[in-house]
Amino acid sequence: MKLAFLGVGNMAGAILGSLRNIVDDADIFLFDRYPEAMARYADRGYVRAESAPAAVAAADCVIFAVKPQNMPELFAELQAADVMHGKLVVSIAAGIPIKAFTDAFGPLPVIRTMPNTPMLIGEGMIALCRNALVTDEDFAFVRTLFDAAGSTIVLDECDMNKIISVTGSSPAYVFLFIKSIYESGLAQGLAEDGLLDAVCDAVIGSAKLLKASDKTPDELIAMVTSKKGTTEQALLKLEEYRFAEGIHAAMLACTKRAEELGRA
Ligand SMILES: NC(=O)c1ccc[n+]([C@@H]2O[C@H](COP(=O)([O-])OP(=O)(O)OC[C@H]3O[C@@H](n4cnc5c(N)ncnc54)[C@H](OP(=O)(O)O)[C@@H]3O)[C@@H](O)[C@H]2O)c1
Repeated sequence: MKLAFLGVGNMAGAILGSLRNIVDDADIFLFDRYPEAMARYADRGYVRAESAPAAVAAADCVIFAVKPQNMPELFAELQAADVMHGKLVVSIAAGIPIKAFTDAFGPLPVIRTMPNTPMLIGEGMIALCRNALVTDEDFAFVRTLFDAAGSTIVLDECDMNKIISVTGSSPAYVFLFIKSIYESGLAQGLAEDGLLDAVCDAVIGSAKLLKASDKTPDELIAMVTSKKGTTEQALLKLEEYRFAEGIHAAMLACTKRAEELGRA
């Protein structure tokens, strides 16, 4: 299967990085309107196309990897060139529904995905859904591409906007959480050297413990929290500041924005 990447930014780069040994470089066609984005891959055997329609015309599968806001102009360019017929569409754009592709290009097989940035180091979490025109064989192939970049789950499309808040955007909340712990450590006078690594290790270790154990998050919280102890004081403060409610409100805002992007 020959692949065309339209938009070669951060996320496309993460997918490309995991495709070694799965797809030959010569079967990958790149197009980005920002020439430096493609120049980053000068040492690879990818084909740098002269336009989005040229990349699409050469490929069987088209990966839409531009920002949702840039999708209308890209659609217009591809419609004018009339090159989408018979292509398998894979979209990584947040919030853009499958229907937007079939409305623009007719009844095509479309796989909508929601990756996340840990995919950059092969630790991604990628949600996928598809329309009825995608064959099992094509879906399995595309899932293999994303399995190489982390772990995958298959969802109904009605859940795709919600999963953005859970796995697509959540790395940002985790980074903010890590930064907040780090900055509090500094504010309390801890030395900067090695502190950020220490916080990362605590977060990674906690997530790994939760995954490896048969305990619930509440049971593991209880294991850390002795009566009248230090953690209890910290948790009472987080409750006072409505930590959990803040996270929920943030995630609802994220899902709402995904819905807005899909309507734009
Ligand atoms: N970042 C995340 O955590 C994340 C997570 C899940 C999904 N996604 C989705 O992944 C997609 C890509 O995000 P990203 O962070 O990789 O974006 P990015 O780094 O900005 O890359 C997109 C690239 O596409 C180019 N582009 C824009 N319009 C184009 C057009 N009409 N034709 C050709 N190239 C065009 C951009 O150029 P310009 O810079 O000139 O616009 C840019 O180089 C988005 O749809 C986003 O919703 C992102």
